[in-house]
Amino acid sequence: MKRYVILISGRGSNMESLLDAGLPGACALVLSNRPDAAGLAAAASRGIATAVIDHRGFASREEFDAALAAEIERHAPDLVLLAGFMRILTDGFVRRFEGRLLNIHPSLLPLFPGVKTHAQALAAGVRLHGCSVHFVTPALDGGPIIAQAAVPVQAGDDEASLGRRVLAEEHLLYPRVARWFLEGRLQLVAQRVQLAGEVAVGGALHVPQVAAT
Ligand code: GRF
Repeated sequence: MKRYVILISGRGSNMESLLDAGLPGACALVLSNRPDAAGLAAAASRGIATAVIDHRGFASREEFDAALAAEIERHAPDLVLLAGFMRILTDGFVRRFEGRLLNIHPSLLPLFPGVKTHAQALAAGVRLHGCSVHFVTPALDGGPIIAQAAVPVQAGDDEASLGRRVLAEEHLLYPRVARWFLEGRLQLVAQRVQLAGEVAVGGALHVPQVAAT
């Protein structure tokens, strides 16, 4: 059975959606860079091994990433899932796990990389927002996109209301992509996404500009 490791920094709701999805693989470890991450208790309550590597205990990003990589490799995972892991990773770390390192980002990439994505979307006035799952490469939030879910922006949306609807889609999208990988259908080949087998996709979505009242 394939093995996966999940990296978190906080709440861990995406981690929970992965753990509860009945994926065809075993979660070997949930690892946090923050000792106070709420997701650690949620993982432990499901009987999953947890570990903390506190980035504040390291003098450099390189040293932290080396410790992180060593802990991950101890569990020999086929797949490493970043799920709200809020540290920028060094190129060395990313290269070491390239092809088996995924991230979920709360925007329709390449729009709105970085943080505060819902505020960025509202400020830009886009009618469609959403989330993306991508292979991680050294470019921040820039790796090959595997799948996206689109969420219409509603009149009167604020960061919280829009963020809630995007998060609900994240919880569906990430387990779906992780399943493809664990089934051996999803690969990164020469920096391109290769997905084998049938995948259901929706039709076009038309979202008009509606003035907030
Ligand atoms: C999610 O919106 C994820 O896309 C982003 O950070 C948030 C983490 O939420 N990278 P959670 O910890 O999974 O609840």
